[in-house]
Amino acid sequence: MTDDALETRRLGEYGFYVMPLSILLKEAEAFLNIDADTSRILGETQSVSRSSQGVHPEEAAVLYGLTRLVKPGLVLETGTFEGYSTAEIARAIGNNGFGRLETVDISCETGLMVPEELHNVVTFRRGMSSADLSQIFASQSETIDYFFHDSEHTYENALGELITFAPFFSAGALIVCHDAKMDFLPDFGVGRAIRDFAQVLDLNYMILDTTCGLALLQWPERDDRQHLDDGLATLWNMLQRTRSEHLLVNRVQRLWRFVKGG
Ligand SMILES: C[S@@+](CC[C@H](N)C(=O)[O-])C[C@H]1O[C@@H](n2cnc3c(N)ncnc32)[C@H](O)[C@@H]1O
Repeated sequence: MTDDALETRRLGEYGFYVMPLSILLKEAEAFLNIDADTSRILGETQSVSRSSQGVHPEEAAVLYGLTRLVKPGLVLETGTFEGYSTAEIARAIGNNGFGRLETVDISCETGLMVPEELHNVVTFRRGMSSADLSQIFASQSETIDYFFHDSEHTYENALGELITFAPFFSAGALIVCHDAKMDFLPDFGVGRAIRDFAQVLDLNYMILDTTCGLALLQWPERDDRQHLDDGLATLWNMLQRTRSEHLLVNRVQRLWRFVKGG
């Protein structure tokens, strides 16, 4: 990608680059040969009946395009919900001709948007992303080629998932996090989580300027296990500290409400 094509702008507070989606799509078209499917997804803005909690059509198109580009063996998605993103990733896997998708959600009644004919490439799991799924991955040898975070968007949960699944990422795996530019909302911290994860592990990342922001990061190709393990241990300690601070704040707030109420 040429410098003038990049047209990136810097967000002072975070120091990451935000790439306008139009640029990505233009670039992607050149080497990805964006097919009719992408136009179809982009055209769905008006026609698809879906809740506002799912990804947006242009984000679904990026997820589809990335799956076609990366050609993953195994994709892991956290946060199935109605299954808009699930359906588009699964459709791309179907068009790739190989690969499969594991998707997890704590609630039942998820994945309604995934058509029956794509169910052969999708495994729907119910449970808490980091807690329940890490045990499954620990017991299988397959590694994750493409990870998509779209479950609870707190700093603790997003960072917790990245730390938990990192040992199972393939070399060069693609990591994508939804809602990466929504940290101004209460309880949202995906942008901060990806920034800390990337900083501690010395990884580059970018945020696509979609409706809610898609963070893109590549797991290292090189075999630098010691550096990564040290970084993950540091991140784990940071996460524990944040969790204890959070607990303390919650307790103080409860106490304050009790004192005021009493
Ligand atoms: C924003 S929605 C996902 C939208 C979906 N990717 C789509 O495009 O339709 C978030 C989902 O994450 C689920 N969730 C929240 N916390 C979770 C956790 N810790 N583990 C698994 N799923 C979780 C919620 O039940 C909800 O269905």
